[in-house]
Amino acid sequence: MGKRESIGIGLLGLGVVGGGVAKALMERAEALAAQVGCPLCLRKILEKDLAKARASKMDTALFTTDPAEVIGDPDIDIIIEALGGERPALDFIKEAMGRGKHVVTSNKEVLAKHFPELLSLAKEKGVDILYEASVGGGIPLIAPFKQDLLANKISAIYAIINGTTNYILTRMASEGLDFSSALKQAQKLGYAEADPTNDIEGIDAAYKLAILATLAFHTEVRPQDVYCEGISRLSSRDFRYARELGYEIKLLAIAKEKDASIEVRVHPVFLPEDLLLAKVDGVYNAVQVEGDLVGRVLFYGQGAGAAPTSSAVVADVINIARRINLGVTITPTLRLDPTKKIKPISEIETRYYLRMSTVDRPGVLAKISKILGDNLISISSVIQKESDVSADVAEIVLMTYPAQERAMQKAMGEIERLDVVREISNFVRVED
Ligand code: NDP
Ligand code: HSE
Repeated sequence: MGKRESIGIGLLGLGVVGGGVAKALMERAEALAAQVGCPLCLRKILEKDLAKARASKMDTALFTTDPAEVIGDPDIDIIIEALGGERPALDFIKEAMGRGKHVVTSNKEVLAKHFPELLSLAKEKGVDILYEASVGGGIPLIAPFKQDLLANKISAIYAIINGTTNYILTRMASEGLDFSSALKQAQKLGYAEADPTNDIEGIDAAYKLAILATLAFHTEVRPQDVYCEGISRLSSRDFRYARELGYEIKLLAIAKEKDASIEVRVHPVFLPEDLLLAKVDGVYNAVQVEGDLVGRVLFYGQGAGAAPTSSAVVADVINIARRINLGVTITPTLRLDPTKKIKPISEIETRYYLRMSTVDRPGVLAKISKILGDNLISISSVIQKESDVSADVAEIVLMTYPAQERAMQKAMGEIERLDVVREISNFVRVED
């Protein structure tokens, strides 16, 4: 097949991502045509909010509220899905592939939940599906995992992959901002998802980790395999103690493989302040990968926002468009090893930070230490702040040496039942 006169694009959704993509396609039309070898022609945009369509100042004839007008348009070769959410996005993607259209998506939820299924469908239909923007916004991550790191056996991924929570944690740590005002700012800037629960509770990061871990370990990691805790129970006191002890608090997505057993978890961690990952602030994301040949590599950049995300989406479009122009068909492949097992959280081993409120009397610390000792947990440091004498309350902060999660959970249950302990106010895992 010869070179095309133009390549037709259909866009689903004109929100933060779709808006950024439409702008890049229009403003860079000439440069993109030069990259591809023919113009990329944005033919239809699905958007249910027609006020957005009008505000975009684009030709109103481009807009429709009927998905069939985009997916069924014979002049559209590539569908860009930027709607978000599982449905109807999943149905639209499948329908588009069924009609022989290539798909570019930024939707981590759809991918994480239906990864092998979507890639098999693409293969069956002889089309491609690319998803660079689904993890880390503008940071090149998917392509390196699919290509540049392939010679390696990947042993670990440590990632800050949710811009909203990193932004919130940074503002809380540096300005003492409370959680809700920091969240409002993140939403105003377009970082947070429409429903911020997914960001705050670590679900968005879990979707992204499931995608990265599937690619890195060549095994299907589903979102429900990822142990997940959010940032909502962190308080300003935790930030103060972290600083005092030489740590930053980050929401980390961690994936490790050892002896065909895979550990995948998202939760807040204490990170030593001198580590590169601990210095990743604001909406920035960073992903540290450890491979047996390459050693340690760090990908860093803007993980959210219209312009950075459009960089990844439009690059995927260029990639597919070039191949269409060359008449080359490449369908995705996903090599999966079914023998690997997901390790339950109870079997992981890490260090812990524990903050508790106790009565202020002699012997309290001895009782707590005995429980930890009986569970083979060794204390590495203790802080006790001056107590509120009138209320007879003390705050004790403990850091432990590495211990098994199961032992730690059992010990915390026993500590909470001590009559001298009012509550365990928080516990955070520590990654050195
Ligand atoms: P937005 O909510 O800003 O945009 C989605 C748009 O699609 C909205 O305008 C929405 O309209 C419209 N829409 C949704 N469903 C339909 C439908 N059935 N028919 C017509 N229009 C519809 O989301 P984002 O742009 O932020 O995110 C899009 C995707 O990209 C998500 O999967 C997200 O996770 C991912 N992503 C987002 C990034 C970011 O920085 N925001 C970065 C990387 C990935 P309405 O508002 O009226 O519902
Ligand atoms: N809500 C997501 C974030 C957008 O904050 O990282 C990018 O996927």
